[in-house]
Amino acid sequence: MEITTPNIFSILRKQAATTLSPGRLTHVLGVEAISCHCAVKWGIDPRKALLAALLHDIMKQRPKAELRGFLDRGIIDVSHEDLEHPQLWHGVAAAVWAIDELGLEDMDIAQAVAWHTTGTPGMSDLGLVLFVSDFIEPSRNFRHVFEMRKRVLSRESVREAALDVARNKIAAIERQGKALHSRTLDMAEWLESLQHSPELLASRKE
Ligand SMILES: [Fe+2]
Ligand SMILES: [Fe+2]
Repeated sequence: MEITTPNIFSILRKQAATTLSPGRLTHVLGVEAISCHCAVKWGIDPRKALLAALLHDIMKQRPKAELRGFLDRGIIDVSHEDLEHPQLWHGVAAAVWAIDELGLEDMDIAQAVAWHTTGTPGMSDLGLVLFVSDFIEPSRNFRHVFEMRKRVLSRESVREAALDVARNKIAAIERQGKALHSRTLDMAEWLESLQHSPELLASRKE
């Protein structure tokens, strides 16, 4: 299954509509819309962004035992720490499902879907688009979301936008006293290390 597979978008939309709650479906469609905007803005293939958006939460409401079964197939490498954070399992499970059962061969899309919750250092620009879009999609209503959305969408590169989101997520998780995954911290450090470097500029698109 690739972005060129006939009807792949309608197949996945139908799957989302029949397996997700109305609220979760609204979120997915919001991510779809804004990730398309972000992809065009930052010079990434919008069809890949749409496919990643449609896939990212397709397993969100499945039982944890089922998600764990997808992780145990060994198709995507997970760490011991990943196994201790069940909130990220749905992303890895969706990527494994897409590879193993739909025949997805594009690992850029699979990795974007797998790590959309935490982010991960070295993430592709497509992965960063999904990471950002998941956070600022139109139905999100956390405090200061309007300001956050405006700031993120004003950034010249998706890496700068993703650093805004990573910092905001880290602050929120720390405020809530929840366990912070090292992937998020490592990604923020990686993005910070790129600031003022040609690598950050390299991801800026005209
Ligand atoms: Fe998710
Ligand atoms: Fe999501």
